[in-house]
Amino acid sequence: MEQRYVRGALIVFEGLDRSGKTTQVNRLLQDLEGTKERYPYRGMRFPDRTPANPINIEICDYLSKKKELPAREAHLLFTKQRQNQKDEMERFLQNGTTLVVDRYSHSGAAYSAAKGLPLDWCMAQEEGLPKPDLVIFLDLFADIAKNRSGFGEERFEEEPFQKRVYEQYMQLQDETWLRVNASKTEEEIAAEVRQAVLRVIEECREKPISHFGD
Ligand code: TYD
Repeated sequence: MEQRYVRGALIVFEGLDRSGKTTQVNRLLQDLEGTKERYPYRGMRFPDRTPANPINIEICDYLSKKKELPAREAHLLFTKQRQNQKDEMERFLQNGTTLVVDRYSHSGAAYSAAKGLPLDWCMAQEEGLPKPDLVIFLDLFADIAKNRSGFGEERFEEEPFQKRVYEQYMQLQDETWLRVNASKTEEEIAAEVRQAVLRVIEECREKPISHFGD
């Protein structure tokens, strides 16, 4: 028998620190609020910094430099947080809810590979997680990002590191990526994002969820 799918889309925002990602995520969430009867949605973010469990707390301590961890251990911690959300994410997608996620697996791999871990090994840890239907990459070079306020306060925010993260991101791109020039105006970016998101939500209604490693 032919199977019909009516599911939500997995929409992920990626980019360097201070690329304007969170602003655009919030704008998209506001836009989707206007059409929520037709396209139910939910926002999520990784890392989850709410002190809801020991993993979240450990990630916060690591990011604020309160705690040091070897690169592999840190990588597995971020991955575990996503793997713990897998079932819930699948449930939302299956019941037709679109997920708008601020950072996901590609952040995990790009940041850890920029510290020197093999990119393939990093992505292998994401296997089994739902694969994004659309990755919106806010494309801003580190030398522009560093002029934005607040740059450099937290772990990973130094400029040479950001350049390495950018290079890793470039290796992860596939046909599901939309690279948006992050130096455009907020309005222009929001319009480009909205158009792509609505297209992808419609397109993936009839497709099964795919997974990393499929
Ligand atoms: P985030 O809270 O999104 O910071 P920002 O709002 O500045 O983008 O992410 C915090 C940092 O965590 C960011 O430098 C990227 C890094 N990170 C990882 O190293 N691994 C991961 O798996 C994720 C999701 C983020």
